[in-house]
Amino acid sequence: METTTNKSDLKTDWIYSPAPESTDHIRINQRYDLFINGEFLLPEKEKYFETINPANEKKLADVAEADQADVNTAVTAARKAYENVWSKMDPAERGKYIYRIARLIQERAREFAVIETMDGGKPIRESRDIDIPLVSAHFFYYAGWADKLEYAFPGKQARSIGVAGQIIPWNFPLLMAAWKLAPALATGNTVVLKPAETTPLTAMKLAEIIQEADLPPGVVNIINGDGKTGRALVEHPGIDKIAFTGSTEVGKLIMKTVAGTGKRYTLELGGKAANIIFEDAAIDQAVEGIIDGIFFNQGHVCCAGSRLFVQESVAETVISKLKNRMETLIVGDPLDKNTDIGAINSKMQLDKIKMYVDIGLNEGGTVYQSSCKLPEKGYWHAPTLFTDVSQSHRIVQEEIFGPVLAVQTFRTVDEVITKANNTPYGLSGGVWTDKGAKIFKVSKAIRAGVLWANTFNKFDPSSPFGGYKESGMGREGGLEGLQPYVNLV
Ligand code: NAI
Ligand code: MG
Repeated sequence: METTTNKSDLKTDWIYSPAPESTDHIRINQRYDLFINGEFLLPEKEKYFETINPANEKKLADVAEADQADVNTAVTAARKAYENVWSKMDPAERGKYIYRIARLIQERAREFAVIETMDGGKPIRESRDIDIPLVSAHFFYYAGWADKLEYAFPGKQARSIGVAGQIIPWNFPLLMAAWKLAPALATGNTVVLKPAETTPLTAMKLAEIIQEADLPPGVVNIINGDGKTGRALVEHPGIDKIAFTGSTEVGKLIMKTVAGTGKRYTLELGGKAANIIFEDAAIDQAVEGIIDGIFFNQGHVCCAGSRLFVQESVAETVISKLKNRMETLIVGDPLDKNTDIGAINSKMQLDKIKMYVDIGLNEGGTVYQSSCKLPEKGYWHAPTLFTDVSQSHRIVQEEIFGPVLAVQTFRTVDEVITKANNTPYGLSGGVWTDKGAKIFKVSKAIRAGVLWANTFNKFDPSSPFGGYKESGMGREGGLEGLQPYVNLV
């Protein structure tokens, strides 16, 4: 299992000149208020919190913190808009508004990408090529469904539910907002959205676009704050449905709170995906897939391929190539177009990742980290790989949510299926092999919502996403993503 690769053999000589994305065209206000009823309102208690750029710890803006009274104002606005306007509107008209939002985001894609990168720390290459294009694709996709619900649910009538409370995380801030908003709006519901406290800015930019698109006031309300604000939203009696993406811990709290209230809910929670490499796989492509699976977005991905299973006969080759490739990853300024790995989203998350690396070492794992130089200011973590770990290790069982990969080996198909399923999670997984039959066998046997074959981390608005077991309930995306927002009669 141990390989003989020496770090100095791996060091690349390639030097890239800095290629930072320009920030001249970006407008970030000093202060963002609550977006309620189509206007920006002062918070009741006039309390604000800072959002910073995790790559340099510089403050970007002050953001209004919504308390219970503000949550109530937002829910009341959403209710009024639901009853008087949005639920009564001709579905084709609703669709036009959603198309308009999609187009406006496309027009301002560059601005959105840069702000997403500044506020959250992800590389500009990802926010520019993945997040923002998927955001507008999502709005386009669900805009198309707005007046075709009778085809989505043949023989049934799809009725809207009412007011949705939507709580989202910091790993894909605007994309998660789109995943939540687009299907809710297309089906005739109104929304109170709460972004994550470390990444509120693109949602506030979206509020500007919603104003520009002339969406009727109160259809979308966006309020910020931490867990307290989230809890107030979940507990509010005027909410008919909760949609949440975040930690399994908070997901469980939400389930308890809504139990017996009649509120509907969907939860998209953690993951600990198995990425399985068979000996007959195209090894170089698989190595790229492993890299993408765990280091993409600093590993801040619920479907990250954080558990690698390599067939024993190719383990040495795969691990050696993996270490080699890790050495070439560029860690640094997220705004630089060459950067592969950006900043960790917050100090809290960085501390959590470091804690898990210590746990892995204490449990007897062997660690390998790429020898990249980390910037001094900001929150950073080098790409990290653990070998000599087994099923019972905490770094194999628990979600780390950072660039830390745990590697194990296997001999047979049945063995790897058992190992891959030995987790409380079941969000995603990957399988790499030349044999179609093996793909079908493994993907049927793994209890996870999404299985990628000979690729990883591919998303499309038409494809449903969601988990088994402690990874959550309900699906987002695709036709299935409409269901949580309708009553079928
Ligand atoms: P979190 O689950 O606390 O935060 C997610 C969202 O929920 C944020 O908007 C937050 O303000 C809100 N929230 C927090 N407490 C709440 C409550 N009691 N009621 C309602 N809303 C509440 O996640 P956090 O603290 O940012 O990260 C902790 C860990 O969770 C990460 O290390 C990672 O393992 C996991 N996580 C998983 C995500 C996923 O996409 N599955 C996304 C973010 C975090
Ligand atoms: Mg921030």
